[in-house]
Amino acid sequence: MNKTHYSLISLLFILFSLSSCHTQKKDRQQTQDEQTQKKYSFAKATFSNICSGCHGEKVETFVDRKWKYGNTKDSLMASISNGYADLGMPGFKATFSEENIRELADFILQGIENNNKFDLKDVEIKSNIFDSGSQKVRLDTIAKDIKIPWGMAFLPNGEMLITERSGKLYKLTSNQKLQSIDGVPEVVAEGQGGLLDIALHSNFKDNHIIYLSYAMPKKTDNNTLATTAVMKAELVGNGLTNQDNIFVALPFSKRRHHYGSRLQFGNDGKLYISVGDRGNEKENPQSLNNFLGKIHRINDDGSIPQDNPFVNQQGAIPSIYSYGHRNPQGMTLNPSTGEIWVNEHGPRGGDEINIIRKGKNYGWPVITYGINYNGKPISNITKKEGMEQPEIYWTPSIAPSGIAFVSGDNYKKWEGDVLTGSLRFRYLNRTKILNNKITGEEEILLKNIGRLRNVKIGNDGFIYIAVEASKNWTGGIFKLVPIDN
Ligand code: HEC
Repeated sequence: MNKTHYSLISLLFILFSLSSCHTQKKDRQQTQDEQTQKKYSFAKATFSNICSGCHGEKVETFVDRKWKYGNTKDSLMASISNGYADLGMPGFKATFSEENIRELADFILQGIENNNKFDLKDVEIKSNIFDSGSQKVRLDTIAKDIKIPWGMAFLPNGEMLITERSGKLYKLTSNQKLQSIDGVPEVVAEGQGGLLDIALHSNFKDNHIIYLSYAMPKKTDNNTLATTAVMKAELVGNGLTNQDNIFVALPFSKRRHHYGSRLQFGNDGKLYISVGDRGNEKENPQSLNNFLGKIHRINDDGSIPQDNPFVNQQGAIPSIYSYGHRNPQGMTLNPSTGEIWVNEHGPRGGDEINIIRKGKNYGWPVITYGINYNGKPISNITKKEGMEQPEIYWTPSIAPSGIAFVSGDNYKKWEGDVLTGSLRFRYLNRTKILNNKITGEEEILLKNIGRLRNVKIGNDGFIYIAVEASKNWTGGIFKLVPIDN
């Protein structure tokens, strides 16, 4: 983008930020220290009216960067005073007093400090007992030596199926032995792809049918393309039979990321499938003529339910249930409402939880709370008529994967709350729910446990988490056993 473009767009941003009023009801930063907000009233207003045009609306998102010119108070003040004319940033020393510039620098430093709270890599893990404050739990190792565990499914007989992204499907027996299951599809185990989620048919007990989502290959003359696909199969002993690819998200792509790929049966007996935008946000999520950046809904045999929202719309893919998604890697059923909830990776500073409603547009990339990884805004708006607002969004991004509602009375203080795994900050996030609404109150559980890929409630009502391998551990599954405080 050339400089004229850049400043024109920034002018637009400035106009927009001046005209929009930010009610950030569901913004978790809001709960942080209202005093600070008062103290930085000049800086806050200036950031959102002027700086945001180029650096994004949230200071926490701006500071989530590799600093080029330093982040000491002096270097921040120098950057703001002198600007970087050749890169497109004006200097502000003629516009603002030194005191104002100092306040801006302090405000930025405060944003850095807020973000540092989430970076837990220095937290030492000393035992398998974790006391979050609200509930003490013991972590029991259920399965190890699974490097990148992705999907989990609990069989009625107490056994468990676990997918490993590299392309393996395991059965964990009741005496905790891992056995390989044969007959899984060939996968593209590169980037974010591989063997991904797993779900059981609601009548698994009688029909032994399972569903696997994965990165399906398609070989061309000079390339292997890939896409999100779903295989239906029957589990017989330690093998799969009657394999049938009932869903293939088109078009295939050269890229190796944003597969989405969670599977969840609804109370309506339909299979919901999340598919990411495959890294092509310009073409995919807002257009109904492709499968990408969508939540799909199909019958258990892969056929299309006739009450899907776009079945009668010419040119629209009939399995689409909702659109405008980026990369949903968590999907679950809210047991108290029967709604489908997803969490999805946003750009920097725009991860979201959404409730999936029929035919709705979730806005990506037209509206977003995040900015590009290179620090430039993606969109100047966070809200638009006809597009859904998230239930919550995360700044800084936590990179969410896996989502589950705590149910039953094993964890009384957490009952009804929603759990989200954080890949980036290596913890389990608990978000408080009251009357089926997110209150914004959050708690960080299992600090620095590792890249937390999935969280589910077992048939026994206990929380199970899938954690990737790290230098401290082999990767695998833990169970959270509550202990009395
Ligand atoms: C017209 C666009 C624009 C506006 C408006 C703008 N900046 Fe910048 N800013 C940039 C660019 C371009 C850079 C170069 C570095 C980069 O983006 O990676 C930069 C760099 C910076 C840096 C140094 C970052 C580093 O990595 O060391 C700081 C600090 C900064 N800006 C603060 C501000 C503040 C505070 C405001 C509002 C008072 C502001 N900027 C307004 C475009 C802008």
